[in-house]
Amino acid sequence: MGRSGRYWTESEVMQPSVMSSDMDTIRLGADDAGVAAAARLLGAGKLVAIPTETVYGLAADARNPEAVAGIYRAKDRPAHNPLIVHVSDLAMARKFAHFTDAAEALAAAFWPGPLTLVLPLRKDAGLAQAVTAGHSRVALRSPDHPAAQAVLAAFGGPLAAPSANPSGRISPTSADHVLDPAAGLGGRIAAVLDAGPAAVGVESTIIGWDEDDKPLILRPGGLAADRIAAVLGQMPGAATGQETGQNPPAPGMLASHYAPDMPLRLNAATPLPGETWISFGAGENGLNLSQTGDLAEAAGNLFATLRKADALGLPIAVAPIPMRGLGVAINDRLARAAAPRPVAKT
Ligand code: TXA
Ligand code: MG
Repeated sequence: MGRSGRYWTESEVMQPSVMSSDMDTIRLGADDAGVAAAARLLGAGKLVAIPTETVYGLAADARNPEAVAGIYRAKDRPAHNPLIVHVSDLAMARKFAHFTDAAEALAAAFWPGPLTLVLPLRKDAGLAQAVTAGHSRVALRSPDHPAAQAVLAAFGGPLAAPSANPSGRISPTSADHVLDPAAGLGGRIAAVLDAGPAAVGVESTIIGWDEDDKPLILRPGGLAADRIAAVLGQMPGAATGQETGQNPPAPGMLASHYAPDMPLRLNAATPLPGETWISFGAGENGLNLSQTGDLAEAAGNLFATLRKADALGLPIAVAPIPMRGLGVAINDRLARAAAPRPVAKT
């Protein structure tokens, strides 16, 4: 019997990959049976959260309009915010978008990996319209995680997958985060494939190109800008948010996102009395992003640490994080977590 009191069906009990069932959302093991079960559910149009190297994604068949509509419903995601399509590799990606030389070079250098490319959608792509929110460009990424790759191979098609969190909340870096009935999607999705904590910890870097073919970072993320610049031979610009018309940069990059319940104070040299302190570097007590001041380690710990701090129910203060390498993505997420919240929906 699941924790919510629902009795498992006979086929679920017979399914060796089922680890537990939480409020009707099944936790699958990241073994062959779990991967096969995930692919079967996806083929039936169901929603399955899958591990990637960045964060857990909420996957659905990108060609199935009902399945894609289910993603927006489960996350309560605004309809104008398009989804990243996950592919096995460049060969699969070419079915959905027109690749320029620059895009080919980036995919060759960094796929599979934490890089998303926003490219012109092919007319014959066959993706559900809601995946691109009606735009003429599609975001594509090949994830660097054995379980994600195994699900893609078993499923044999493109998977639309935003981060597996309710819209506006902190992204999940573990299956427990996904299943959390309050701050997660437990009970709203068919299953989560549990492969342990995500290694990179912040979402992929998103690159697009403006009308003059100048590369733009639409979202800083798990791949540092200087590594992209080394391949492109130029530093990509930063999207200003002023780009309008048919293809706004990354509609999901609204000011307030990744919102914990507690207020967040940034660049805090020391905590004030009554604050939960998140530090960076040696010699600090309490929650720490990296004792050695390692930015990759800090990115890996960021979202889990924010959740832990939030659960303590006190205002949160975060130490300054250097603005270099992965620090750019960390500071971006922290700034959004600290931004004023929109008025709550009633
Ligand atoms: O690491 C990641 O990218 C994770 C894992 C699961 O792959 N996914 C992820 O998805 O972060 P999501 O939906 O949480 O964020 C995707 C961002 C949003 O800001 C969205 O607006 C933008 O990508 N995006 C998606 N399609 C786009 C498009 N066609 N043009 C511009 N921006 C797009
Ligand atoms: Mg997200």
